[in-house]
Amino acid sequence: MPRNIIIAGNWKMNKTSAEGADLARSIVQVIGNQTEITVILCPPFTALQAVGGIVSNSSVRLGAQNMSDKPAGAYTGEVSSAMLRDIHVTHVILGHSERRALYGETDAIVNKKTLAALENNLKPILCVGETLAERESNSTFDVIRTQIRGALDSVSPLQFDEVIIAYEPVWAIGTGKTATPAIAQEVHAFIRSELSALYGDTLSQKTRILYGGSMKPDNAAALLAQPDIDGGLIGGAALNAKDFIALVESGRSASVKKA
Ligand code: PGA
Repeated sequence: MPRNIIIAGNWKMNKTSAEGADLARSIVQVIGNQTEITVILCPPFTALQAVGGIVSNSSVRLGAQNMSDKPAGAYTGEVSSAMLRDIHVTHVILGHSERRALYGETDAIVNKKTLAALENNLKPILCVGETLAERESNSTFDVIRTQIRGALDSVSPLQFDEVIIAYEPVWAIGTGKTATPAIAQEVHAFIRSELSALYGDTLSQKTRILYGGSMKPDNAAALLAQPDIDGGLIGGAALNAKDFIALVESGRSASVKKA
């Protein structure tokens, strides 16, 4: 069974709710009825509801970029998984390298968030990736293994079925430097073998592993053609409708070729 391709837009800290609604409208108008692949928009918290209103009658899904690991209570500034579910969020990006590097998120925190998301039926898009220094010191695989094992600690096979992985080499995020398709494929295959060691072959073969890091309309086809690359998590190029729609179209072509 070929894996269903996912194209997800990570808007990061961009777009007011009005701007987000405009962008979502332009996207939904063109690809809102396609069902060959899964398209997810991940606006900032403040735009979730407006974007949710636009995508609700389309095939486009709504994702958040972060959430609290706690269910409720005195946690100033935090947003819970139940609050996200309440406004029809279905996916949540967890462990993005910017959260790890700038906000001190450790594998243990990412693990707690993953468990909290799964308990509330949110599908985690779990990000892993090495820095340039780690790649240059030949520790890419060790870093990825530690991140994967840490984030998935105590996640049952049944829960793992809902998890999406995103490989985002830190040196390729927002830098214009994309991993070559061969470099990305090598790490994706490694991630799949790690998942197989943890959850067995059947589940690991079903798991979608997305690539993220300067994915653009002109490099997407070659990346998506790789056997273990099942989609993209897109930052910069997700902020304008033309590029994002082109990326969705690349995902649809790749899905036809892989069928
Ligand atoms: P980029 O970001 O496409 O701008 O490199 C990807 C991401 O950080 O998710």
